[in-house]
Amino acid sequence: MENCYGIILAAGQGKRMKSKLPKVLHKICGKPMIDYVTDAVLSAGVKDFAVVVGHGADAVRDYLGSEIKTIYQDKQLGTGHAVMCCESFLNDKDGVVIILAGDAPLINSNTISNVLQYHTLNDFSATILTANTENPSGFGRIIRDGFGNVEKIVEDKDASEDEKKVKEINSGTYCFNIPELLFALKKINNNNVQGEYYLTDVIEILKKEGKKVGAYVSDFTEFMGVNSRIQLYEASVVMRDRINIRLMNEGVTIIDPKSTYIDANVKIGMDTIIYPNVIIEGNTLIGEECIIGPNSRIVDSIIENGVECQSSIILNSLVKSNAKIGPFAYIRPESEIGKEAKIGDFVEVKKSKIGDGTKIPHLTYVGDAEIGQGCNLGCGTITVNYDGTNKHKTIIGNKAFIGCNASIVAPVKIGNNAYIAAGSTITKDVPDGALAVARERQVNMEGWVERRGLWKK
Ligand code: UD1
Ligand code: MG
Repeated sequence: MENCYGIILAAGQGKRMKSKLPKVLHKICGKPMIDYVTDAVLSAGVKDFAVVVGHGADAVRDYLGSEIKTIYQDKQLGTGHAVMCCESFLNDKDGVVIILAGDAPLINSNTISNVLQYHTLNDFSATILTANTENPSGFGRIIRDGFGNVEKIVEDKDASEDEKKVKEINSGTYCFNIPELLFALKKINNNNVQGEYYLTDVIEILKKEGKKVGAYVSDFTEFMGVNSRIQLYEASVVMRDRINIRLMNEGVTIIDPKSTYIDANVKIGMDTIIYPNVIIEGNTLIGEECIIGPNSRIVDSIIENGVECQSSIILNSLVKSNAKIGPFAYIRPESEIGKEAKIGDFVEVKKSKIGDGTKIPHLTYVGDAEIGQGCNLGCGTITVNYDGTNKHKTIIGNKAFIGCNASIVAPVKIGNNAYIAAGSTITKDVPDGALAVARERQVNMEGWVERRGLWKK
């Protein structure tokens, strides 16, 4: 959008969060609040914008990175003062600025586009985004004259009894013609209940100058501000619903959206089915036709097409197509599970590569291992990767067969088509095609029970 700039106010402390983390870095569906606002501004086509930082400025700046402009507000003297701090950002500009709050993450980018259009088409000096709500307490109220024209905004704390009854609220998002905003900002003062420089006072000043001020009424849920953990939860509920609805519209079956927690950046393919109590976090990518069974948690992972995951945890790993995971598997970071492989119940895989078609059906620990294709690891197999000081690697070739309850003491290599006898403790490499037996031979002591007088009739 040409000649259009943005300011995001994010210097406030957020006392009611009771947190060491700056408010705008608190996450909603896996994404810091500030990201929702910057994303919305960017996708509305506003490329040149600045974030006003103050409380926890270093943390917010670090998080935003060098790509995003920040402006420092030393003391938080009010929203008007915050915008005054942006004077040098605005001074040489002659277009429109949209001002938003960093703690209102539910704003949609098309609402931003719409209000900008509305502002320009009507030739307003200022346009306020407003909403009607049955519970306006805490918000600034939009005061209109007998003709319905906006006159001013009155803060909740400064409002008279009559003004408090007004149900139209100020969302905290506005468009201004930049020169007029800069002019009006010079005239605001802090003679109010909170002793702050209110940005909202600019409206009345512009009106008194005979300027046209508009209001663009939108849906209240978009303007829910987050000032406490409870509101963080409430905003998360709205966002979660939006995410689930988007995914369902894209062809994902979600059996019970109310108990499905999917982060904002997660992508899921068509015809995948998500069962209840599933948590999918971070930058996870799930392919088509997968089944994500109940009580699964998948974080920052890539799950290819046709994978079935039952009641399991997958962290920062790649699961290739048609693999079966779980129930009750634990796939730890940096693992790669091959195509059509099976990682069954009570199997833990850590930083290991499992080849295509390999089966590890039950009660097994695989850590720091590279396992080839078409292997079978019997119940109770353990890769003994840790000597108390260092971690060591286990390498197993293709089509190897590991008998039950084998301990494979790393570093060690097991060849292609090798067999390991059940109960073996393997400490030496096993060549291709060999059978390794590493356990005591069985001894049968005949007649022992009777000799001891233990024989039961
Ligand atoms: C503000 C509006 C109110 C509106 C409400 C919507 C004013 C005076 N009032 O009230 O009409 O209904 O938002 O949520 O603007 N901030 C700074 N520097 C400051 C003060 C605030 O950057 O010195 C930032 C905060 O971090 C926050 C935003 O501005 O992101 C809004 O400030 P806040 O104190 O929450 O204003 P409200 O009292 O909620
Ligand atoms: Mg607020």
